[in-house]
Amino acid sequence: MRPTVAFHTLGCKVNYYETEALKGQFRQEGFVLVDFHAGADVYVFNTCTVTHLADRKSRQAIRRAKRKNPRALVAVIGCYAQVKPDDLAALKEVDILQGTADRMSLPGRVKRALAAGQPGKSLPGEIIPASANLTFEEMPWQSQQGRTRAFLKIQDGCDRFCSYCIVPLARGPLRSLPPSRVLHYLQEIANAGYREVVLTGIHLGLYGVDLQPAWNLADLLEEIKGLAGIMRIRLSSLEPADISEQLVDVLKSDGRFCPHLHIPLQSGDDQILEAMARPYRTMQFSYLVQYLENEIQDLAISSDIIVGFPGENERNFQNTLRFVEKCGFSRLHVFKYSPRRGTRAAQLSPQVPYPEKQKRSRQMMALGEELSRRYQDRFVGKTLPVLLESPVPGEADQAQQERQATWEGLTPNYLRVQLSCENARRGELYQAQIQASYPGYLLGSRAGEFGVRGEK
Ligand code: 5AD
Ligand code: SF4
Repeated sequence: MRPTVAFHTLGCKVNYYETEALKGQFRQEGFVLVDFHAGADVYVFNTCTVTHLADRKSRQAIRRAKRKNPRALVAVIGCYAQVKPDDLAALKEVDILQGTADRMSLPGRVKRALAAGQPGKSLPGEIIPASANLTFEEMPWQSQQGRTRAFLKIQDGCDRFCSYCIVPLARGPLRSLPPSRVLHYLQEIANAGYREVVLTGIHLGLYGVDLQPAWNLADLLEEIKGLAGIMRIRLSSLEPADISEQLVDVLKSDGRFCPHLHIPLQSGDDQILEAMARPYRTMQFSYLVQYLENEIQDLAISSDIIVGFPGENERNFQNTLRFVEKCGFSRLHVFKYSPRRGTRAAQLSPQVPYPEKQKRSRQMMALGEELSRRYQDRFVGKTLPVLLESPVPGEADQAQQERQATWEGLTPNYLRVQLSCENARRGELYQAQIQASYPGYLLGSRAGEFGVRGEK
């Protein structure tokens, strides 16, 4: 009997990408993939450690799985395993630990452990430190059934060391997938029938600086323009300092590049930005926002904010609220500052008490919702292209849902639209006349159909 394996992923899009690649590798090594809730012989947890909450969620998920399946072998990999191997090795539930390096070797390790019979604890010394992880570990793209959007990881690691951030320790230095490999995978994605692709990375804006000869993201996007078949191309997070005129020019030059950028601000107070070791101040950030909005029509800019950074007082926080409102983000991700061992900010004082962080987080999230509503409302009465992703779940079974009239999809600027269209299919593109705005989505009616290819 072939062994079964189930996966659980926490954290960012890059982690999800890596899990998919690992699934492919496990399949190749003869494992059968099963749902996480089915009893499996092996459980793989791909963990995150960006906040203490991420650590806790990882530990909880591991314990729960082992309680339900005491005889299963548990492998824990990823950022948390890289940064705090001792914490995880101390859990009796954990059998194999592997950090963020050499992950494609995991199925082999698991096989050997299974063959040896007893799930046995591996030592934290078996963790490969991030600093040894210097080359880009190519983790092949895998097709996922029933999706219209594909993710492709083209860059890993970060050298920036913002004072709050554990990621450079978790993932090591900046590395990039060579352009020829990026184009190879994009061709595979197009051939597999995907309409949309998201290029992801940890510090994506510095794509290529480590390559010989050096590359940059704008040049890569120029190359991608020559590729037929993919209708929409999105970029994951970009640091404000990395958005060059050349990049904006290339984004404008082809309708397939989506007018949505995620640009983490983190704080709207210059004193706090300095303490965070962020390489810009509010004035530069607002120039950037103005410039981008002038250059790219209907651009959506989303952002990340950390509340309760050490030393953040009420005045700093109010500055951030005002500045965030002025920037008019289309969506906000709010994080409560979490001290990470080994980062500079963890040593700073005073740390903000938890109830205060909670209060600020609630206030910032309320502003985020208001800004999303304002951004969405701008499009009521307009006609937008919507790429259908899934039928809106209801009482009906899967087959009924597919025929059913209401579908959900995304516009190029990342607005969710619900749309009535009978006999439609996943991955089709419709023109939607937007009628109303609700929390989290717009309601539209069908205004016309495109050919499969053209967005404009
Ligand atoms: N505490 C809270 N949020 C953090 N982030 C990164 N490090 C921390 C931390 N120590 C947030 C940042 C980043 C996002 C991915 O996670 O906002 O952009
Ligand atoms: Fe979490 Fe950061 Fe690692 Fe992604 S890179 S999994 S966000 S710690």
